[in-house]
Amino acid sequence: MGVLKVGLVGCGKIADANHLPEMLSLGKNAEVTAMFDTKEGKAEALAEKHKLKPKFCNSLDELLHSDVDAVIIATPNLYHYEQTLQCLNAGKHVLVEKPMASSVEEADEMIDLAEKNGLILQVNQSLRFSALYKKLAELVASGIIGKPLHARCLRAATSSPDVGWSPGAKWFVQKKFKGSLVTDIAVHMADLLQWCFGPVDTVMSQTTNLSHEVPDNVVALFRYKNGATATLELSWTFPIGGNKFEIYGQDGAILLTDEAIEIHKKGAKKPKIIRFNSIKAIPNSHAVFAASVAKGGNENWKVGREALALCMAIIESNQQQKAVEPKMRKTASKTSVKSPAAKKATPAAKKSTPAKAAPVKAAAPAKKAAPAKKAAAPAKKAAPAKKAAAPAKKAAPAKAAAPAKKAAPAKAAPVKKAAAPAKKTAPVKAAPVKKAAPAKKVAAPAKKAAPVKAAAPAKKAAPVKAAAPAKKAAPAKAAPAKKAAPAKKAAKKK
Ligand SMILES: NC(=O)c1ccc[n+]([C@@H]2O[C@H](COP(=O)([O-])OP(=O)(O)OC[C@H]3O[C@@H](n4cnc5c(N)ncnc54)[C@H](O)[C@@H]3O)[C@@H](O)[C@H]2O)c1
Repeated sequence: MGVLKVGLVGCGKIADANHLPEMLSLGKNAEVTAMFDTKEGKAEALAEKHKLKPKFCNSLDELLHSDVDAVIIATPNLYHYEQTLQCLNAGKHVLVEKPMASSVEEADEMIDLAEKNGLILQVNQSLRFSALYKKLAELVASGIIGKPLHARCLRAATSSPDVGWSPGAKWFVQKKFKGSLVTDIAVHMADLLQWCFGPVDTVMSQTTNLSHEVPDNVVALFRYKNGATATLELSWTFPIGGNKFEIYGQDGAILLTDEAIEIHKKGAKKPKIIRFNSIKAIPNSHAVFAASVAKGGNENWKVGREALALCMAIIESNQQQKAVEPKMRKTASKTSVKSPAAKKATPAAKKSTPAKAAPVKAAAPAKKAAPAKKAAAPAKKAAPAKKAAAPAKKAAPAKAAAPAKKAAPAKAAPVKKAAAPAKKTAPVKAAPVKKAAPAKKVAAPAKKAAPVKAAAPAKKAAPVKAAAPAKKAAPAKAAPAKKAAPAKKAAKKK
């Protein structure tokens, strides 16, 4: 069984809180063999924290020439497009952070290139791998609250991510790096609402820049093709943080509390309670990515592309002061990526044989979890590796040079000062936890799992940036946490 060799680009907060824990959860099936960060000492500090011994690279180009099969891109938003193109042109599979790009046009170029080269392109829409949110979507689809009518989602924080989540990461609130509350949190929550209600018809929004040069308060109204509506309210500047996720249907409502899903049926005296710890885990983002690289994938980029379209519609609606339709990708995918063999065509990948690497096993913490299958699904359809090999050959060529040039500017950004040691970075974006200490925004990662900004709540777990609902909780960005460690522990960690 081959080992999937992964390069990590960008060794900041999300790499620490999500990418490395989830990579490590794959066990021997995958390995982080190379790391690169423009800030001196940052990759080394992060590797030491997670007990890794990768090759430390001085550029993305150097990393691509090391023996990696795939690359995780966890850099500021501005770089996602150019770095993804550079990696795809070098014949590497890519797991890129959200938002996948800064425009739908850029995103489509990335997708086209991945398909042309027979490579997996996945976006780390981490909440899509949260068992909790999957459960919510399944409940709505099951008809338990009848015809969907309306949903309300509030994610309010008292500060922007450069304060709580990744202290000093100013790019989150800077135009030139494509930061904003829209691309930080709406990218998750608008996507989750769409997961529950289906395709969006129109978006109307009002965004304001109260304390930053980018939108730091967002109100969006969605109308779905099924006739339902939803409101999304986000803030980085509220005096107190808070989260709500409520879904109303003709026959009942689904409410997310700080530790359970409540299903209120019309006329019933008591709600049905589904506690977070009773929801079965599902494969995490990296497990699905690794499985797709090993066995083939099908439109792994899709959720990220749609989430980006919703973000762009929010921005456009505010600019035009009218309802707009999100620009979903119209052209159907020409081909699924049938197998990872494509990579073999590239020099760097020659030696690696990810084909059987199938981290699926490790991945699948979800043996009992019904939904898990869906997530992993692409693997089943995987066709024989041979087919994929062809496109790869075309991929490797010279084109890589072009994007590489553009990528160069990245170097300019570097900051000489050594990165703060991982320990101090720990803070977390989200974390609304019961009575948890005020806002350590990001949750404590599940045991071995990976927390995520926006994610799902976990019993006492530590939240993550966007996610978790919490009555009294501090604002939080996310927080997907399977069996997350108890808050206390988490707190210590962070
Ligand atoms: N999926 C989620 O739930 C989630 C949560 C938080 C952040 N994110 C996304 O992850 C990305 C990174 O966020 P973060 O919180 O880790 O930010 P961060 O600022 O903590 O880390 C970014 C790292 O990238 C490095 N860097 C900057 N430019 C670079 C370049 N050109 N090449 C290589 N390294 C470079 C920085 O030095 C820094 O270490 C962002 O796109 C953000 O939107 C996703």
